[in-house]
Amino acid sequence: MMEDFKNIKLGYAICGSFCTFRKTIDEMKEISRLGADIYPIMSQNAYSLDTRFGLAADFVNEIENICGKSVIHTIPQAEPIGPKKLLDVLVISPCTGNTLAKLANGVTDTSVALAAKAHLRNVRPLVIGVSTNDALAAAAKNIGVLMNNKNIYFIPMSQDDPSGKPNSVVVRFEKTADAIRSALNQTQLQPVYI
Ligand SMILES: Cc1cc2nc3c(=O)[nH]c(=O)nc-3n(C[C@H](O)[C@H](O)[C@H](O)COP(=O)(O)O)c2cc1C
Repeated sequence: MMEDFKNIKLGYAICGSFCTFRKTIDEMKEISRLGADIYPIMSQNAYSLDTRFGLAADFVNEIENICGKSVIHTIPQAEPIGPKKLLDVLVISPCTGNTLAKLANGVTDTSVALAAKAHLRNVRPLVIGVSTNDALAAAAKNIGVLMNNKNIYFIPMSQDDPSGKPNSVVVRFEKTADAIRSALNQTQLQPVYI
């Protein structure tokens, strides 16, 4: 489908699952190619931490070039998403166990968590791509709470290493665009666990 996201204002929020940044950026390029006007958002951790997967400034640079906008990475920058009705849809992918816990419990002390709260206040879809080693352990209850919430949808996901990391689940990045399309039609793309 060519450019079927044209005229869609899409928030693309990234949390500190650093090992998935390469695939995330590839997916962001694909969403941009489909015509979406992307507002990039990063958690303070994703925005500022250098890790063995790369330097924060390099990732920020690359993301800003794809989207043609500065990254929203502070609470004051995220707050207008609510009153200005800035976004048609907000994607949080990768979403860490940490941010899942905040979202499930109404905690809003990060740029990404506040972006979600501000956006949901406008009764518009939030699409989550889980990436965490504790998805089937400490984060399982939070995923369950969020699945049962109005206006929250998930990008399909898989256990990535059932024997080596039995509680780990990672978003299927290639399903991102389809999950967004479904969420814009108030539908959960199935199967959600692949
Ligand atoms: C190299 C590295 C990789 C990480 N990968 C993940 C991950 O894939 N999933 C996850 O839930 N946390 C991961 N973490 C931990 C998070 O970065 C940490 O929980 C952080 O508080 C998340 O903050 P945020 O949710 O505001 O981005 C990783 C940390 C480091 C240093």
